[in-house]
Amino acid sequence: MKKVYVLAPSKIGTIKPEIYGHFTEHIGGVIYDGIYVGKDSPVENVHGFRKFIIDKLKAINAPVVRWPGGCYAEVYDWRDGVGEDRPTRINWWTRHDKRYESNEVGTHEFVDFCELVGAKPYFAANVTSVSPMHIRNWMDYTMSPAGTTTLAKEREKNGRAEPFDIPYWGIGNENWGGGGNMTPEYYAENFRRFATLAQNAFPDVKRIACGPNAEDYEWTRRFLAVARDCPSLIDGYAMHYYCWNLRDEVTSFENNDWNRMMWLSYHIQYLITRHWAYIQGYGLENRAKLYVDEWGAWYKEGTGPSGGANLYEQQSTMRDALITAIHLNTFNNNCEKIDMANCAQLVNNLHCLFLAAGENCIATPTYHVFDLFKTHMGGTCLRTANDAGTTDYHGIKGDLLKFDNLSTSASVKDGMLTVTIANASPEQDIPFALDIAGLDVCGDGEMTLLVGDGICDHNTFEEPERVVPKTTPITADGLAEIVIPHASVVAIRIPVTER
Ligand code: AHR
Repeated sequence: MKKVYVLAPSKIGTIKPEIYGHFTEHIGGVIYDGIYVGKDSPVENVHGFRKFIIDKLKAINAPVVRWPGGCYAEVYDWRDGVGEDRPTRINWWTRHDKRYESNEVGTHEFVDFCELVGAKPYFAANVTSVSPMHIRNWMDYTMSPAGTTTLAKEREKNGRAEPFDIPYWGIGNENWGGGGNMTPEYYAENFRRFATLAQNAFPDVKRIACGPNAEDYEWTRRFLAVARDCPSLIDGYAMHYYCWNLRDEVTSFENNDWNRMMWLSYHIQYLITRHWAYIQGYGLENRAKLYVDEWGAWYKEGTGPSGGANLYEQQSTMRDALITAIHLNTFNNNCEKIDMANCAQLVNNLHCLFLAAGENCIATPTYHVFDLFKTHMGGTCLRTANDAGTTDYHGIKGDLLKFDNLSTSASVKDGMLTVTIANASPEQDIPFALDIAGLDVCGDGEMTLLVGDGICDHNTFEEPERVVPKTTPITADGLAEIVIPHASVVAIRIPVTER
């Protein structure tokens, strides 16, 4: 019998809830007809935001939502999104989809959405097209105490006397690319200017620096070499990682296409290890924790319900459920290095949790994985291991690569053990025993399984509940033989005591 081991004496750290974060950009159908339908819409809404999405995000305890971009952040002027008579502007993405930005959703509306969900806002601030006073003034407007500054009074005039709670501020987005095509040194100097003003005005908020695109270790090395002289300015270091696959069909693919995405998902561990080695090398491991503030699969255009009208909207299958589970297990297992991660993006976009259009709104298999994993939030991560073998994958150049069949993580919180396991094999069902070292099972638990009818299975507006999780009871004896079907994700929750 193969085994999955939970090694309770080996504790990795606390899993910050923010690892289960989200991202909404003013792009395509994410904001308009995504989260926001307008107060007068026939679609059920709260203050103009889709009730379906609010309720579903509450159900998974969504901790944080990043906004307003992405690339869009680098052309965003927060003044356009407050008060009456908001201007219409060219969006970063207008040249791709000919849509202009109405600014109907701005600072007040977005924070309202977060408050309805119970999530914290994470603002990504512009550093490409403005001066450091821009972020200083946006902070002043949003966070100065009621009745103090002129901007706080303007906020009150616009309907909000008390300050907003915005604990996370990104200093730029992808400044190696859309954010100004800067060199790491030039960005680092600018980070120091912007972060100094931000720190001076509101020292307690987290300031997150723009980190690398995936494997760009040079960006990390060269940024840190300049930024390390001012370590107190850095509270986090953002990294973006997309699993690209513009080749195959998104809802009708073969095993090897599946395998490619599994391999790319596991590969994030390698990136974390190498970037972290630089962070440690520069002595910044207590300041520059990783914020993987964009991650997910990126397929070719036009596979979502809008047929390409919503930029970057893509359908989400069981393959994406496995990609999600492998990423979340990896984040858990590196929780001493990672303070936040944000799945890109929430709705009608890349690796989305929801697809929506008018009256229609469905949860994708990716959403259900977040639901399976939610009890990890705030738990103590325990090391896991398994001997369930590997799957061969023939890479694009024909090279033979391998990945583990089972991706696992475990945590304990308030006497409840959560173990999440993804079977990344597209064809092998795997029987295994769950072997728990250092904990005694002290009651009955439950097991929730997410599996489709085949690796390409997915939900649609016509069949919104084709792929949904199913929960069954499990006893201590039942842990001795569990079968995890191929291409599935399982969460086991069972009460335990320390031995
Ligand atoms: O998520 C879509 C885009 O991908 C974001 O705007 C950008 O930050 C990244 O390149």
